[in-house]
Amino acid sequence: MTLKYFGHSAFQIVTDSGLSIFIDPFISENPLSACGIEGLKADYILLTHAHADHLGDTLSLAHKKETTIVCVYELAGLLEKAGYKTHAMQIGGAFSFPFGRVKFTQALHGSQTPDGVYAGLAAGIILELEGATLYHAGDTGLFGDLDLIGDLNDIDYFLVPIGGNFTMDIQDAAIATSWINPKYAIPMHYNTFPVIKANPQEFQALVEEDGIKVLILKPGETIKL
Ligand code: NI
Ligand code: MN
Repeated sequence: MTLKYFGHSAFQIVTDSGLSIFIDPFISENPLSACGIEGLKADYILLTHAHADHLGDTLSLAHKKETTIVCVYELAGLLEKAGYKTHAMQIGGAFSFPFGRVKFTQALHGSQTPDGVYAGLAAGIILELEGATLYHAGDTGLFGDLDLIGDLNDIDYFLVPIGGNFTMDIQDAAIATSWINPKYAIPMHYNTFPVIKANPQEFQALVEEDGIKVLILKPGETIKL
């Protein structure tokens, strides 16, 4: 399978079986993204929360019959009302989809739609598919149970916000990464806006002291997992 980064917290996974899965597809309005959504097809869209920089292009990328949007119950209710196909979950719950298993975790953050409607809790997402485990932490501050999540899961790729202001900064993200203890950490949610400016090399230096490899992805870059 492949993992494509669009900048910010937006990713696309294409499985070996050919399914296209987006996480937080903030693409066309994303200052870091070099592309729009023309030609992109989504079988599934996984959302950590409803803020504009995560909900992103969901409403135009999702086909109302063919795309399943996976998110927390309250946000799913809003999307269902607008005619979208959803699969509602909640923090602590897991479900096995045709592509793999999704578990929602805690994230220390808020969530409302771009027009100001409360959208339930913000979440992180653990994805087990095709022999790899990815943990997209969503937007979150540092919290102690990241240590527990690290103990309970064998994480290969930890997608971790480092930009500060709305989420963990580099120092807190390095602490979280040491607790999660993944094979690879992939920094995200930085340099999109002036208030979340951060140097991923600084994060890399801190984390590699703990023997964890860091993959700094460029917007538009695709890697094989
Ligand atoms: Ni947010
Ligand atoms: Mn955000």
